[in-house]
Amino acid sequence: MDGPSGSGKSSASKGVAAALGLRYLDTGAMYRAMTWWMLHNGVPVEDPGAVAARALEPALESGTDPAAPTITVDGEDVSGPIRSREVTNAVSAVSSVPAVRARLVALQREIIGIGGIVVEGRDIGTVVAPDAQVKVYLTASEEVRARRRAQDPAADPGASVTLTRAEQARRDRLDSTRAASPLAKAADAHEIDSTGLGLGEVIEAVVRLAKETG
Ligand code: DC
Repeated sequence: MDGPSGSGKSSASKGVAAALGLRYLDTGAMYRAMTWWMLHNGVPVEDPGAVAARALEPALESGTDPAAPTITVDGEDVSGPIRSREVTNAVSAVSSVPAVRARLVALQREIIGIGGIVVEGRDIGTVVAPDAQVKVYLTASEEVRARRRAQDPAADPGASVTLTRAEQARRDRLDSTRAASPLAKAADAHEIDSTGLGLGEVIEAVVRLAKETG
């Protein structure tokens, strides 16, 4: 499941995984964890060479239970800190570095293994798992996405809808225009616009697609 920030991918992917008894992987959390580690270690994140030189260092581990997804870096649980505004505003720069993507895509493919998993991100249908059984590209209007982000319990409580919207627009522009596997809809992905849909309706639509193709 791919799509821009705030489209509802996380809630929908977890819901679909739980409904179908599958594992779940949040690839955005992996890019965030890599970004957290770079900031924590004083790496200048706007310098692609400096980021690339350290990209192999952090040990990342992702738990795949949709009811309790976890992410650790060098054994430390970073589920909270990776949602900070500092990380959110630096993650596009770090995730545009090819050495970072090469490492994380390899890790993601290892976790995906033979399948049985719902994976959310930006390049899952196009690059990470081009043979996925079902591909979904989830969208929503910019206004609705910013509102959802600002209301997300994991989001920075100090961020208003207006600020969230501006920062989100910047991140989406960077994520969609970068050279290395930008956010894109795969040619064979089913596009779902969640602007006027409730979470349950999105989950139901994806579960239906999975059953039709399974
Ligand atoms: O889904 P998210 O907002 O937590 O993702 C954080 C960032 O990670 C997003 O701005 C772009 C990057 N990302 C990516 O480049 N490729 C992915 N498959 C997932 C996320």
